[in-house]
Amino acid sequence: MPSDKVTVMAPASIANVGPGFDVFGLALGEPYDLVTAEVRRGRGVKVRKMEGLEGHQVTLDPKRNTAAVAAAKVLEAAGADFGLSITVIKGVRPCSGMGSSGASAAGGAYAANLLLKEPLAPNQLVACAASGEEASSGSFHADNVAPSLLGGFTIVRSYDPLDVVRVEPPAQLGVVAALPDVLVPTKEARGLVPDKVPLRSMVFHVGHASSLAVAMAQGDLGLVGRSLRDVVVEPARAPLVPHLREAEAAAVRAGALASFLGGSGPCVASFFDKGRSDGRAIAEAVREVYRSNGIECATWVTSWGQGCRRWRP
Ligand code: HSE
Repeated sequence: MPSDKVTVMAPASIANVGPGFDVFGLALGEPYDLVTAEVRRGRGVKVRKMEGLEGHQVTLDPKRNTAAVAAAKVLEAAGADFGLSITVIKGVRPCSGMGSSGASAAGGAYAANLLLKEPLAPNQLVACAASGEEASSGSFHADNVAPSLLGGFTIVRSYDPLDVVRVEPPAQLGVVAALPDVLVPTKEARGLVPDKVPLRSMVFHVGHASSLAVAMAQGDLGLVGRSLRDVVVEPARAPLVPHLREAEAAAVRAGALASFLGGSGPCVASFFDKGRSDGRAIAEAVREVYRSNGIECATWVTSWGQGCRRWRP
């Protein structure tokens, strides 16, 4: 066995990214969870401690804890003959729309993989982490765990079989993640997503999703901005996020390329061109919308990130 203890930095991510419900995801530079996995005698995964931002709210039950379920899936897939004890320090608040459970799941899978003699392939890891995510959200979706694990912009081309494509986003792409002090459980937000969509909405989404993928690959930030629209899922969820439209409009007035609901919310995500702005005015504009309505709002001015990494403090 290569080592018997490892700590991993597992970043937040923005899922859906406009038109790509359950398909697109972008890894962030920050915030991130720290997930430590330590080999223990005997089989199975135990959760020793959940700390950090609202960590005490997260279950220690290894059958429902996303990091533990993901790590157990990795051990099972590899036929490992050891167990793990896991500790998580949450830097990504749960129910944020910033891939909090996905970050812990990705970190659990990545850390377990580092402890194997023969590590799993990236797509296998994504599948294990998505099972962890399922334990908390009730649905198998990989659009948070994929970017959190692989970094950059990811596209879930197919769920059956699971096939994820990674695209290197433009270097100049900056991200403002604004988190109003409102909780939106993913399970609840998924309950609002319509089962059926009109054909014209499907045409709109295929067009915007295709052009977003091309824009990311070609580094065309103008086209990234024009492609970030969702006429199906975000409108259905908007009632869960107070002042969403106002916040998005304020971000665009302050220079964002586009602003949209991050994951299942309440994160308000805004993309900007780092060549034209440092993002701080965008963060301030969104915070001001919430401040003037009596709601606290945390912001991160960051960039897209490289995904899970071994933590070396
Ligand atoms: N695609 C998922 C959803 C992401 O929107 O429900 C959850 O953060």
